[in-house]
Amino acid sequence: MKQAKDYKRIVVLTGAGVSAESGLKTFRDNNGLWENHRVEDVATPEAYARNPELVQKFYNARRSQLLTAAQPNKAHTALGEFEQHFSGEFLLVTQNVDNLHELGGSKNLIHMHGELLKARCPVSEKVSDCTKDLTDQSLCECCTPPNLLRPHIVWFGEMPLAMDTIEQALCECDLFVSIGTSGNVYPAAGFVELAASYGATTVELNLDASANSRAFDTSLQGPASELVPLFFACS
Ligand code: APR
Repeated sequence: MKQAKDYKRIVVLTGAGVSAESGLKTFRDNNGLWENHRVEDVATPEAYARNPELVQKFYNARRSQLLTAAQPNKAHTALGEFEQHFSGEFLLVTQNVDNLHELGGSKNLIHMHGELLKARCPVSEKVSDCTKDLTDQSLCECCTPPNLLRPHIVWFGEMPLAMDTIEQALCECDLFVSIGTSGNVYPAAGFVELAASYGATTVELNLDASANSRAFDTSLQGPASELVPLFFACS
């Protein structure tokens, strides 16, 4: 089987599975985040309008765990090292809101579902760093009077970020690799079809069969910390 280094233009999509071995919960596995919280309570604009404290509490807990307990694993570092050695074009698109790809050395990276370590003014849309809990005292510095900062997270019903750039790269790539995502959430779940329709080879690396495994040319099953270093070996 060819490896990533045998291609020229690569787009990689990652999901919660790539951070599972760093101790961060996935969404839909046993004991996942959506087993213990209702999406409608913590991850929609309506939930935030209804009960901002509850939504803030959900993301504050995840932010705190990320900052205190999570380190990049071998999958994150293999992707970072590969990108640094690769002479072709490489874009990493993550659905994850953690910063473990950055810590693993990835540079050309899009967080299509936002970032836990950023907050946003809902009026000016200005994004700022956020390493502390958001509370009802967390106000923006860009507006008069100031507005309550919201998590810089794409909630259900909101448009993922940088879609034009992502779709352009999917149309131009010769390899698309999906890692650690269950293939349940669109538009990311549709990336494989778009890339394939423009001629890319498509590969899935996931712990078990995802909802759209059959759309891939190759689907390999196992932990990301084992599969990713093998497929993204630099030499
Ligand atoms: N290695 C590889 N894959 C793994 C590992 C691992 N160690 N552990 C779990 N997985 C796989 C699971 O088998 C599952 O298919 O990762 C996938 C995680 O799926 P989800 O929990 O659905 O997470 P994800 O696909 O990233 O969710 C997409 O849904 O709720 C939204 O916005 C949230 O970005 C998220 C989006």
